[in-house]
Amino acid sequence: MQYTAKVVNANTDRSDCLIVTAFEGDQWSASASALESKGGQLAALCKREGFKGKQGETLLLHTPEGTQAKRVLVLGLGKLQPSPSAYQSALGKALEALKNTPCKSLTLCLDELNIEGRDARWLARQVALTLGMGQYRFTRCKSQKGDAPPFAPTKLTVGAAKKSLTSDFQTGLREGAAMAKGTNLTRELGDLPGNICTPSYLATEARRLGRGQKKLSTKILDEKQMKELGMGALLSVSAGSDQPAKLIVMEYRGAAKSQKPVVLVGKGITFDTGGISLKPGAGMDEMKYDMGGAASVFGCMQTLVELEPNINVVAVVAASENMPSGGATKPGDIVTSMSGQTIEVLNTDAEGRLVLCDALTYAERFKPKAVVDVATLTGACIMALGSHASGLYSNRDELAEALLAAGEESGDRAWRMPLWDEYQKQLDSNFADMANIGGREAGSVTAACFLSRYTQKYPWAHLDVAGTAWRSGSAKGATGRPVPLLMHYLLKQAS
Ligand code: BES
Ligand code: MN
Ligand code: ZN
Repeated sequence: MQYTAKVVNANTDRSDCLIVTAFEGDQWSASASALESKGGQLAALCKREGFKGKQGETLLLHTPEGTQAKRVLVLGLGKLQPSPSAYQSALGKALEALKNTPCKSLTLCLDELNIEGRDARWLARQVALTLGMGQYRFTRCKSQKGDAPPFAPTKLTVGAAKKSLTSDFQTGLREGAAMAKGTNLTRELGDLPGNICTPSYLATEARRLGRGQKKLSTKILDEKQMKELGMGALLSVSAGSDQPAKLIVMEYRGAAKSQKPVVLVGKGITFDTGGISLKPGAGMDEMKYDMGGAASVFGCMQTLVELEPNINVVAVVAASENMPSGGATKPGDIVTSMSGQTIEVLNTDAEGRLVLCDALTYAERFKPKAVVDVATLTGACIMALGSHASGLYSNRDELAEALLAAGEESGDRAWRMPLWDEYQKQLDSNFADMANIGGREAGSVTAACFLSRYTQKYPWAHLDVAGTAWRSGSAKGATGRPVPLLMHYLLKQAS
């Protein structure tokens, strides 16, 4: 895919499809007006077809007068100053309208589109991200790969009204394309079944990411090394599995060594049966997505190696299966974490926090500027926030605000949840320093409270993405969230 930004003349553009925008109340963008003034046909056609310029409305015209493009797609944006989300969803609608066309080259005239609080770079970033994500298909496990998708453009030009905008557009396109690549990797890893995507598979994937990359190094810790480090909590989860656990460490160095890194920690449960506290059978297949947090960390690393921003980022992925067997951890078992704190495992299905707590202690060695863990941690978070927002917890307001802002900016939103002391006592245990479950109430909060006991030494945030990392139902699949949120946050840190 080739991305270009330049000043475009709608009347002479020769692409397979020229996309121009229009607004409600007979308001036209400059490019649409230019077509109208040359051919005098656009307004009449819109009127005839009942096109009103409503947000997300599309009208596809073939070889219209006034342009040399093969097609013109008129894209409605609604109000003259659309909201960011209206713009994002309209972009999706434009791609949908072109789905069954053989268009290879697209020109999207953004002219001087004005969206409050967003700059040219952001506008272009969204275009490349939407287009890139639109190309994702999970075909790995289908014996018939099917026909090539009818809509597979190879060239995208974003048209600016003036030269001064083109370099920001170009930067945004590059960023959006890299984010799409990362997000699609996250989706692919999530969609892969548990029998293929094992902890060892993730380790291989990490090595692949680092191959030939000067700025990315990969290190894999095996169970023996984890045992030496005292990671008794993590290893209590893999105890029931034939697949060995892996602690995957990727270090991206884009800035001076003296700059403290952001550490991303991912929950990588490649399949969560619940262990001895076995889950009910219905819908259990979806627990292949229980490595969604880890997958998003991979997606970020992929994006970073593409973009090479000026920042240091470390990824720590705690990868394990959660299986029942003769060797599995049992309810009531007490384990010792790397931090030295002991844990009574009252429910083996609360395994995410067990692998994360040791990974979070391990993160201390990087002297992090901030640690952000990402985990499909609790069903309770889905009850609280549904699939629209990820649950955000943090021990620093500044970090929480930066992540919330990155969520708003990307449209991949999070909502802050409390970490008040009052919740902590739900984790009391009669026999160990803490229990791994906190009872029926506020399950997402008590899970975060558990993690907070391992993150006292640095600024930390936790994203519970159980509701946002994948979709159930007929459109079942990984969403790639929260890669857009994390990447917007990381790029802000780099600038
Ligand atoms: N992976 C699950 C959380 C989850 C559940 C994610 C449903 C997405 C959809 C996690 O390991 C888990 O099982 N959590 C338990 C915790 C409970 C035992 C305290 C839960 O949420 O029920
Ligand atoms: Mn579980
Ligand atoms: Zn789980």
